[in-house]
Amino acid sequence: MLQINSSRFFKRLNAINKLNSNISKNGINRIALTKKDKEARDIIVKWMKEIGLKIKIDKIGNIFGFNYFNKNSQPIVLGSHIDSVKNGGKYDGLVGVIGALEIIEILNSRKKKLPNIGIAIFTNEEGVRFSPDMMGSWSFIKSETINKIHSIKDDNNITIKQALKKINYLGREKQLFFKPKYFLELHIEQGPILDMNRKDIGIVNGVQAINWIKISLSGQSNHAGTTPNSNKIDPNRVFSEVLNYLYKKIKNNSKQLATIGKVEYYPNQTNVIPKQIVFTIDLRNINDLKLKNFKKDLVSKIIFYSKKYSITSKITELVNFKSVKFDKDLNNIIKKNILKNKLSYMNMFSGAGHDAQMISEICPTSMIFIPSKNGISHDKKEFTTKQQIKNGLNLLLNVTEDILR
Ligand code: HGY
Ligand code: MN
Ligand code: MN
Repeated sequence: MLQINSSRFFKRLNAINKLNSNISKNGINRIALTKKDKEARDIIVKWMKEIGLKIKIDKIGNIFGFNYFNKNSQPIVLGSHIDSVKNGGKYDGLVGVIGALEIIEILNSRKKKLPNIGIAIFTNEEGVRFSPDMMGSWSFIKSETINKIHSIKDDNNITIKQALKKINYLGREKQLFFKPKYFLELHIEQGPILDMNRKDIGIVNGVQAINWIKISLSGQSNHAGTTPNSNKIDPNRVFSEVLNYLYKKIKNNSKQLATIGKVEYYPNQTNVIPKQIVFTIDLRNINDLKLKNFKKDLVSKIIFYSKKYSITSKITELVNFKSVKFDKDLNNIIKKNILKNKLSYMNMFSGAGHDAQMISEICPTSMIFIPSKNGISHDKKEFTTKQQIKNGLNLLLNVTEDILR
């Protein structure tokens, strides 16, 4: 069985992560469309050129590399993302991109005729600066017009288009300028299931639905020492009721996930009753209808408490992605190769969103998961062993050989 060149893979993976200083303290900060993102992009594009790939960059900065290309060639595409969350881990996304490069290099060195295969590096999968997340793959499948996507702004009113221009990755290729025959993404699980069950591989049946909402609660800022409690018009009253409501609702409902990960106070001062609180809620559920109803009830509660405490509320939807199922035939090929590689496995759904969630709308798609130690991810403690990464890469290599036949 063909195997990857693991020292070359880890040399490249470490070279990209080393662009970040003091990883053990700060983790990885490769936020999409920043200088750090550009540095990594430039190096990977150099490697892609060195192995002879034709580079194509589209209007949202997605980077593609092909052995050869015409718009109807329908290549098999392997890939993921390289952008990270703040203080993120060394493996999220990057393993799938450097792995794709390694597999193409190995296959090209073994085959007389260059295989019809390509690599994809999708822009802004994490949605740290610009929403929605999975933006590059969401744009690639034409979910929204490119003009609308280009005009999305970050908190400093910089548009996507300006940010792409600044890092020189505003490409020319249109959305969906080609269609892959298959898309495969190798990714760390980012959760505890494989680690807890001591399995080498996760065959991913699909991804749960994702909904991000941003809520701003506006009251009246005032002096903390002179304002009688009865006179306060304090957005904390609504914020605390919403937190209470949320934690009560998810307490005995393991299928419904709700996270308040971002909260900003204005003016954010100890001795000032806040004028405004702006916060986000990340909702996930494998069942689209249950997620929709959970969100509807949540929004009505926010409106009810805002009225009760004379607070002005504004609710904006940032992300609304349906749950998806991956390709059964592809998963059978993955399973066949797992058995050939004598690896342990289990079928599972993905808790995290991925570019494959978007690409599955346009072609047969699936993912291969490898374990995350203690289920930790989106944190500097994210860890997967070298052997687990090699298992995933060799499996992806064998599956790719299979579907190339
Ligand atoms: O939000 C997610 O699940 C992904 O990591 N962007
Ligand atoms: Mn990821
Ligand atoms: Mn991530």
